[in-house]
Amino acid sequence: MASGPSKDIVTEENGQFESRKREHIELSLLPDNQATGRSGLDEYHLPHCAMPEIDWNEISIESSILGAVRKTPFLISSMTAGHHGSVNLNERLALAASRRGWIMGVGSQRKELFDEEAHQEWVELRKTIGSELLMVGNIGLSQVIQTPPEKIQDLVDSLKAIALFVHTNPLQEALQVEGTPYFKGGFESVARLSQILSVPVILKETGCGFSASTLQQANELGIYAVDVAGFGGTHWGRIEGGRNGADALKNQAAKTFANWGVSTYQSLLNARGLDKKNFAVWASGGIRSGLDAAKCISLGAECVGFAKPLLDSAVQSQDALEKTMEALEFELKVALFCTGSRSVNDLKKLRV
Ligand SMILES: Cc1cc2nc3c(=O)[nH]c(=O)nc-3n(C[C@H](O)[C@H](O)[C@H](O)COP(=O)(O)O)c2cc1C
Repeated sequence: MASGPSKDIVTEENGQFESRKREHIELSLLPDNQATGRSGLDEYHLPHCAMPEIDWNEISIESSILGAVRKTPFLISSMTAGHHGSVNLNERLALAASRRGWIMGVGSQRKELFDEEAHQEWVELRKTIGSELLMVGNIGLSQVIQTPPEKIQDLVDSLKAIALFVHTNPLQEALQVEGTPYFKGGFESVARLSQILSVPVILKETGCGFSASTLQQANELGIYAVDVAGFGGTHWGRIEGGRNGADALKNQAAKTFANWGVSTYQSLLNARGLDKKNFAVWASGGIRSGLDAAKCISLGAECVGFAKPLLDSAVQSQDALEKTMEALEFELKVALFCTGSRSVNDLKKLRV
């Protein structure tokens, strides 16, 4: 996620943006910045079926996402990845996503709002990877509030995106040295954007999840989905705390808020508990295995996203990244087999 030093989004220097991006990648890989074991999914169990009445080769993980059938229900969650040493992480992630038929969420495109050259990255990526890759754009809620919808449409067009994530991250913006904690008018701006944009809008958190009342209000926005991105994985309060250095006030507050957030499991239950739901539910935040993903699907998720586990392997090698993705798909298949589900849809119908 990206943000500037003041309410004026065009003032940030490119150098400052790049160094923050580097710090975010390095800090998100540290175990202390992960709320490991707190997603709530470890306490939720799928029922074992001792006699599945299915052969392994009948199992399919194909899924309907955004109104079309995809090879898997999986998403590379939005990451401002850029370069790590000499490696172009976005290229690595894009190649892997296109080979395995995953959807790829790119990191915040905020830089494109003030740097006319920034969209070139996507032009080059499309040249290398091709047009098949399904990409979802990304922009922060504070930028949506301050930017005319036509300029946000440019972000979608530059990427040839199939949808746009609008990320919300109040804890991070409050604790970040350069944060933009300005969210007034957020609901109205997202509703307006959803009406005007050429592609569906998906509202996402970044690791702090959604309460039942925020989800209730999301019903009125005309959005396609909410990606709960709950507590239990990468934690941006902790990460910004580690970046604050001399800013003792924000540093101390980051420790106080180290376990802040609605867990991914609870966020999914909150969505399930709504009387009426006008949006699809996507799950992410601390999803660390294909079994975690299966649990989220059984709780109603249409699509399941992974960030940190893929970043971890992407910094190692292309091969490591694709092996991780293969392992996640395999584990989902095992979960389907052992619950007696032939398909992802069967898993959704499972009585737990
Ligand atoms: C290095 C890094 C950069 C990220 N940048 C963004 C971003 O630009 N926009 C966004 O919506 N989320 C961003 N995220 C948050 C992820 O999309 C995800 O919501 C969060 O990391 C929780 O998932 P995880 O526990 O699997 O890491 C970033 C995550 C990481 C690790």
